[in-house]
Amino acid sequence: MAPFFSILPVLSLLPLLSSAAFTDTLPLRSSLSVDKHQTDTLRSPNGTFTCGFHSIYDNAFTFSIWYTNSANKTVVWTANRDRPVHARGAVMTLRKGGALVLTDYDGTVVWQREGDPAGVRYAQLLETGNLVLKNSRGMVLWQSFDSPTDTLLPSQCINAATKLVSTTGLHVPGHYIFHFTDSSILSLIYDDVDVHEIYWPDPDNGEYQNSRNRYNSTRLAGLDEMGNFVSSDFANQRAIVASDEGHGIKRRLTLDPDGNLRLYSLNNSDGRWSVSWIAVSQPCNIHGLCGPNGICHYLPAPTCSCPPGYVMSNPRNWSQGCSPQVDINCTVDQVQPVQFVPLPGIDYWGSDQLHRDQVSLEACKNICRSDCTCKGFQYNQGSGTCYPKAFLYNGKAYTAPTKSARMMHLKLPMGVNISGIPIPQTNVLISRKQHPDCGQMNASTMEPFPYVHKANQGEAKWFYFYGFAGAIFVLEVFFIASAWCFVLRWELGASEIQAVEEGYKMMTSNFRRYSYKELVKATRKFKEELGRGGSGIVYKGILDNSRAVAVKTLENVRQCEEEFQAELSIIGRINHMNLVRIWGFCSESSHRMLVTEYIENGSLANILFKDNILLEWRQRFNIALGVAKGLAYLHHECLEWVIHCDVKPENILLDRNLEPKIADFGLVKLLNRGGSNQNVSRVRGTIGYIAPEWISSLQITAKVDVYSYGVVLLELLLGKRVLDLAVGADEEVHKVLRNLVGMLVHMLDNEESSSIAEVVDCRLNGQFNYMQARTLIKFVVSCLDEDRSKRPTMESIVQTLLLADESCSMC
Ligand SMILES: *[C@@H]1O[C@H](CO)[C@@H](O)[C@H](O)[C@H]1NC(C)=O
Ligand SMILES: *[C@@H]1O[C@H](CO)[C@@H](O)[C@H](O)[C@H]1NC(C)=O
Ligand SMILES: *[C@@H]1O[C@H](CO)[C@@H](O)[C@H](O)[C@H]1NC(C)=O
Ligand SMILES: *[C@@H]1O[C@H](CO)[C@@H](O)[C@H](O)[C@H]1NC(C)=O
Ligand SMILES: *[C@@H]1O[C@H](CO)[C@@H](O)[C@H](O)[C@H]1NC(C)=O
Ligand SMILES: *[C@@H]1O[C@H](CO)[C@@H](O)[C@H](O)[C@H]1NC(C)=O
Ligand SMILES: *[C@@H]1O[C@H](CO)[C@@H](O)[C@H](O)[C@H]1NC(C)=O
Ligand SMILES: *[C@@H]1O[C@H](CO)[C@@H](O)[C@H](O)[C@H]1NC(C)=O
Repeated sequence: MAPFFSILPVLSLLPLLSSAAFTDTLPLRSSLSVDKHQTDTLRSPNGTFTCGFHSIYDNAFTFSIWYTNSANKTVVWTANRDRPVHARGAVMTLRKGGALVLTDYDGTVVWQREGDPAGVRYAQLLETGNLVLKNSRGMVLWQSFDSPTDTLLPSQCINAATKLVSTTGLHVPGHYIFHFTDSSILSLIYDDVDVHEIYWPDPDNGEYQNSRNRYNSTRLAGLDEMGNFVSSDFANQRAIVASDEGHGIKRRLTLDPDGNLRLYSLNNSDGRWSVSWIAVSQPCNIHGLCGPNGICHYLPAPTCSCPPGYVMSNPRNWSQGCSPQVDINCTVDQVQPVQFVPLPGIDYWGSDQLHRDQVSLEACKNICRSDCTCKGFQYNQGSGTCYPKAFLYNGKAYTAPTKSARMMHLKLPMGVNISGIPIPQTNVLISRKQHPDCGQMNASTMEPFPYVHKANQGEAKWFYFYGFAGAIFVLEVFFIASAWCFVLRWELGASEIQAVEEGYKMMTSNFRRYSYKELVKATRKFKEELGRGGSGIVYKGILDNSRAVAVKTLENVRQCEEEFQAELSIIGRINHMNLVRIWGFCSESSHRMLVTEYIENGSLANILFKDNILLEWRQRFNIALGVAKGLAYLHHECLEWVIHCDVKPENILLDRNLEPKIADFGLVKLLNRGGSNQNVSRVRGTIGYIAPEWISSLQITAKVDVYSYGVVLLELLLGKRVLDLAVGADEEVHKVLRNLVGMLVHMLDNEESSSIAEVVDCRLNGQFNYMQARTLIKFVVSCLDEDRSKRPTMESIVQTLLLADESCSMC
C-alpha cells in the first residue's frame, strides 16, 4: 500500500511539470511571495494571462491578474484593490484547509477566499484569465470571475450580484459603477455620498428609445470571443459589436477611470490596446466629470469650468468641482437678497427639487427665492416648466441647435460681482486651417455652400460636433484626443491619462486605403455597374476577403490630396446603422474612389417606383423612421455636423431586411467645392427634392434635408414620384407640392379619415395604420413648410416616430 500513497502528492504536482518554465497551478500549502514577484507567478496554459504580485508604487503591490503580452501590464483583476501590501514579506498562500489568503509583511490578513474549505486541492489560472480554486475532481469551488474589479473578460459574466467599479489613478476603487439596476437595466452609474445617477443608457430617453427591455429580469450579460457583448435587457437580444468583430483577438471590457466603458482589442505584436467600442462618446455626458457645480463644455476639447460666482474647489482636482465665492446664509431670518444669473444653453442634469408646469419666469424665481436650499433653476420658456434645484451636478453646455432652448438661472447673493466673468459655453465653431495649395478654398466663394456657418460676418467657420449615438458604433477623433489629454493632464493621474489616451485612440483598422489595382481586381475591371449619379458611377466589387463592396468613382473631385484625405478621415468615421458604412477609399493619380458597404436590395427608388415588389405599410413606416434616425445622427450627433444636401429615394438603400441606409452623405464635402458650377445642381440637390431656399440662395442649413425628407415621406405615402405629378421645370414641381400640401392641411383640419385612405398608396388596399399615416402626413406638411424655421428638426421627428412605432407595437 505504501507505494500507492506516495504517488498521490506527485499527481497533484503533475500540472507543475507539464510546463518547464511556468506553471498555472498553485498546490495546497504553497505560496507566491512578493519578494520573488518576478518569478513567483502563475501563467495560464497558453501564456495569455499572468497572476502574481503587481507593483503599483515602489513599495506597494497588489495581487493581480494581467495580460502577459500587454505593453504596460494591463491588470484585469485585483484581489486587494483597496489595500495594497508591502514590497517585502507579503505572501499569497493556499493554506492547508483550502483557503487562499493574502498576508502583508506583518502577517495581517489582507484578503482571503475560501472555497468549500474541505475540498480545495489547488488554485489554477485558466486560459480565460479566471483564477479558480478546484477540488480533487477538478470542480471549481471559487473563481475570480465572480468578483470582477473594473474589467470584464470574454466568457466572464455580469449577473445581478456582480458589478464593475472603476479604478482611480490612485489605484483605488472610484465612483463609477457598471451593473444591473433595480429595474434590470444594465447601466453606468455615478455614485458618491451625495449623488447616485445613471448616465448610460441615456437618462433622457425611455428604455424603448434606448433599445432596452425592462421586462427581462434575467440580469445576465457577457462578452464572447467574437467581440459581441450581449445583455438580457438589450431589445431583441441585439448585441453590441466590436468594430473589429472576429475570432482570435484578445479583448477586455473596462470601466475606465474617466467613467467611460470601453471595449479594447490587443495588438499582439506591440502590446497596445485599441478601442473597438465605447459607451459614451461625448465625455460631457458622463456624470461627475466636473464635480459639484462645475460645467462641462467643449472647446472643442471637453473642458471643465465654473459658473460665475463660483471658483474651483481644488485647483488640482476637478472631481471636487466648484464652490460658491459667497455662501447664501440660510440661518438668517429674513430672506437674503439674491440675484438670478441666466446661463444660456446650460443645464445641470437631475437634482430637481420639484417641477412646476405653466408658471411664469417670475413665479419660478419666487419659488427658488423663497427656498433657501434652492441653488438655481432650469426654466423652459416654451412649456413654462420650472425645475428648482438643490444641488448643481452634471453641468453641461449643450450644443445641438435643438437644445439651445435650455436656460439655467443661477441663484447668487446680491453682492457678488459677476460682470466680466464668462459663462462657459460649448464652442463648436472652430476655424479650419485653409490649405494654401487648395486655391479654391476661399470663404467668400463658398457661400452658400453647406457646412459653412457664418458665425462672424466674413469669417468662415466650420461647424463641428462630435459624439455618437447608438450603442454599436465607434468613432473618435485624433485631434481631439490630444487636446482632451492636454486638458485632463492637469487633473488626472498618469494612469488615468493613459486610459484616456488609449480610449481616444481611433480604431482605424476598418477604414483603409485601397490601391487602384486592388479595386480594378475587386470590380473585375469595373464590370458590374450598380448605378449612376451626379457624383459618379457605382460598381459592385468583391474584396479579397470575399466581402462584397460598392465602389464609387468620384468625378469632379477638385481637392488636393491632403484635403481629400482630411475630409475622408472624418466621413470615414461616421458610423450608424442607418448610414451606409464607408470602408475605405482610393486616391491615385486622377482616380478618386470610395469603397462602401454593399447593400443587397438596392435603392428605395427602385423598389418603390420600379420593381414590382410591394412595400407593406410596416416596411414603409420603418423606412421613414430609419431615414429619420440616420439624418438626425448626421445633423445632431455625429462627428461633424453634416448636411446631406441630396436626400432622395435614390440615395436611400435597403438592406436584406429592408432596413434603410442613407448613401452619399458627406459627398458634398468631397466634390466640386464651390468652384465651377456646371454640376452644381446635381451636387447640391435634385430637382423635386430641393428646398426653396436653394433657389433664393439663402444660407443652407440642415433644414434643407428636412425638406427633402418631407418629399421622401410623401412619396412613401403615395407610392409615386412627386416629380411625375408635375412635368418639367422645378417651379412646376414646387407648385404641385404646394397644392398637395394645401390639400393635406385641409384634410388634417377636417379629420377626414376616409381621405387619408385616398392619399395612401392604393396598392396597399387600405392595409395601413391610420395613426401612423396621420403622423407621417403631419410631418409631410411641416417638413415642406416654406419657412424653414417652422420645419421640425430630424431629432424631434425621430422622437415622434418612435412613439408612433411604440404605440403600435403595443396594440
Ligand atoms: C492554446 O493554444 C493552442 C495552439 O495555439 C490551441 O490549439 C488551444 O486551443 C489553446 N488553448 C486554449 C485554452 O486557448
Ligand atoms: C507604458 O508606460 C510608460 C510610462 O508610464 C509610457 O511611457 C509608455 O508609453 C506606456 N506604453 C504603452 C504602450 O502604453
Ligand atoms: C431574457 O434574456 C435571456 C438572456 O439573454 C434570454 O435567454 C431570455 O429568453 C429572455 N427572456 C425573455 C422573456 O425575453
Ligand atoms: C500592431 O502593431 C504593429 C506594430 O506597431 C503595427 O505595425 C500593426 O499595424 C498593428 N496592427 C493593428 C491591427 O493595429
Ligand atoms: C479628487 O477628488 C476626489 C473627490 O474628493 C477623490 O476621490 C480623488 O481621489 C481625488 N483625485 C486625486 C487625483 O487627488
Ligand atoms: C449666518 O448669519 C447668522 C446671523 O447673522 C450668523 O450668526 C452666522 O454666522 C452666519 N453663518 C454663516 C455661515 O455665515
Ligand atoms: C465688477 O468687476 C468688474 C471686472 O472685474 C469691474 O470692472 C467692476 O468695477 C466691478 N464692479 C463692482 C461694482 O465692483
Ligand atoms: C479669396 O477671397 C478674397 C477676398 O475675400 C479674394 O481677394 C481672393 O482673390 C480670393 N482668392 C481666391 C483664390 O479666390
